[in-house]
Amino acid sequence: MMNSTDGAGANAVEARALTVRRGDRPVLHGLDFTVRTGRITGLLGPSGCGKSTLMRAVVGTQARTTGTLDVLGHPAGHPALRARVGYVTQAPSVYADLTVRQNLDYFAAVLRPGRAHRDARRDAVVRALGDVDLTDRADALAGALSGGQRSRVSLAVALLGTPELLVLDEPTVGLDPVLRRDLWELFHALAEDRGTTILVSSHVMDEAERCHRLLLMREGSVLAEGGPDALRSRTGSHTVEQAFLRLVDEAAPTGQETAR
Ligand SMILES: Nc1ncnc2c1ncn2[C@@H]1O[C@H](COP(=O)(O)OP(=O)(O)OP(=O)(O)O)[C@@H](O)[C@H]1O
Ligand SMILES: [Mg+2]
Repeated sequence: MMNSTDGAGANAVEARALTVRRGDRPVLHGLDFTVRTGRITGLLGPSGCGKSTLMRAVVGTQARTTGTLDVLGHPAGHPALRARVGYVTQAPSVYADLTVRQNLDYFAAVLRPGRAHRDARRDAVVRALGDVDLTDRADALAGALSGGQRSRVSLAVALLGTPELLVLDEPTVGLDPVLRRDLWELFHALAEDRGTTILVSSHVMDEAERCHRLLLMREGSVLAEGGPDALRSRTGSHTVEQAFLRLVDEAAPTGQETAR
């Protein structure tokens, strides 16, 4: 499933000197990182470190971006990427007054308009409902669903176009442990069975263990990049959380002498 005739190669995303300004200050400071094709990359870091900003840059919705950011062999935001990149924002974005199926029908029609695509649209909706395990709730109003179910509808919307790259902004926040496990199983199934590349953010370090690779972020910079095992052994840590804290200490030694 992993043909890369489009020149994307081993990296689905490549960033060099990526800087983003929001308001009157830079919030991403010249980042270099890659996201490997067909792998699950966790973007981890504390609240406000710039995870959502980085994701918005990757999907091409972030203004005032400088540096190089290539996604599936194109500059981020290129029109050719529209159907190839799926994005789930931090706040689930579905229409509360439509049923689950009507939401999916609507977004499928935006993605692939016209009578010629009617059968393909219907198939995509059926498949996406099954992917997120909401087939039996298809006729419920989205507004009547639980928070976890609503975020799965958002995920189903992102899966409609069979994206090669799925960008998920804190998809498991506020979910119970069973739902979290089920979602991670789905992410792994998408990566392993369909070759989907997944970039998923979290500020909960224990989700790190479920990722193939990690980008650890702090204050608009990438502290470290690599597999959870490699990060732990490099820092002599038992957990990714401990590794993160050691990297923070290395980057900014305690005391008042920090250079201005
Ligand atoms: N619209 C905005 N205008 C100005 N600054 C903003 C705006 N949105 C976010 N920021 C700033 O950009 C920085 C990064 O925000 P971002 O939302 O990317 O962080 P995050 O890591 O996703 O946080 P969280 O885990 O809370 O979602 C923060 O310091 C935030 O205050
Ligand atoms: Mg965020």
